[in-house]
Amino acid sequence: MEKNVMETVKALKGRSLMEPFDFSVDELEALFCLGDDIIDNPQKYAHICDNKILATLFYEPSTRTRLSFETAMCRLGGKVIGFADPKASSVSKGETIGDTARIISGYADIIAMRHFVEGAPKAAAMASSVPVINAGDGGHQHPTQTLADLMTIHRLKGSFDNLTIGMCGDLKYGRTVHSLLKAMSRYNNVKFVFIAPDELKMPQDLIDELGESISWTETKSMEEAMPQLDVLYMTRVQQERFDDKEQYERLKDSYILDKAKMALAKEDMMVLHPLPRVNEIEFDVDEDPRALYFDQAIYGMYVRMALIVALLGLTPGELTWEKTRRLPLAIHPEAKEVACTNPKCVTNNDRAVKALARPTEDGHWACEYCDTVMK
Ligand code: CP
Repeated sequence: MEKNVMETVKALKGRSLMEPFDFSVDELEALFCLGDDIIDNPQKYAHICDNKILATLFYEPSTRTRLSFETAMCRLGGKVIGFADPKASSVSKGETIGDTARIISGYADIIAMRHFVEGAPKAAAMASSVPVINAGDGGHQHPTQTLADLMTIHRLKGSFDNLTIGMCGDLKYGRTVHSLLKAMSRYNNVKFVFIAPDELKMPQDLIDELGESISWTETKSMEEAMPQLDVLYMTRVQQERFDDKEQYERLKDSYILDKAKMALAKEDMMVLHPLPRVNEIEFDVDEDPRALYFDQAIYGMYVRMALIVALLGLTPGELTWEKTRRLPLAIHPEAKEVACTNPKCVTNNDRAVKALARPTEDGHWACEYCDTVMK
């Protein structure tokens, strides 16, 4: 790898990852170059984590994220501890997120946490002595899925500029599309087409936050959008995010990608999906060379390998027993105690986490944990 890429990767040592904006465009690029090097030279990295331990704390179900993190650590030579069922941990006795993180950071070198409460990984990171990675928090963010998405585009398209990206399905509760939108907003001449029913539209707060950095249109018609797209990002309508089950039943079949719709698309369009799918992509679309969602899950493992190496500040051939200390998280200097109005926010679900909000440019307050804007 080039020297300047190595230097940029080294600057990630000790950092935590809560959302895509935590890393600059250059830092992401360096991470993808490290991912390329791991794919091309796996033997160089096979023992880089020989004496390191990853803790995976999963309070919500997962196949890809948890197992790709665990496989990533195993392929780097490290070991894994953790739980996939919080009922088997002392959380079930009422232990707070902060106490759990404080204890586990005494055991492990790095933590990946998935939680149904929005902002929970940030609360964990504030208490942890080692780097923490947000592996998905409620409907809020899923930054390592975004790394998987970007790594796939990086490998298969070679550039993030000048793309038209269709996001289809549940854009309201879909944390993967929120993270991807933020990440892609920083590249040149990227256009977004939001394809969703009225009830599942992209949140206006997020669109407002990104302002003029994004160029977007919206439609309810997949057929209308298909011919324009370079990337189609399909999402599942997530039953677990709906309080109103009747609404879920009404919306769950809103968009189904089939061969007829694929026939309307460009020959080199990429179909991505964070998976799992239910019925939003018909099985016979899998045979189409443009269906890249299974490759995306593999690239997700490689980019998580790169992330672990970078956050631990490791260099091939140099083993260290020293623990990588977590660096402070970015908190707005004018943040103050303002109650969050989001019932799913960690400040309303964990007795040890105090409300904390930053001022927004238009005179409101935004929660430092879940980004809800109080109006
Ligand atoms: N894409 C994704 O987050 O999948 P899992 O829920 O299986 O981890």
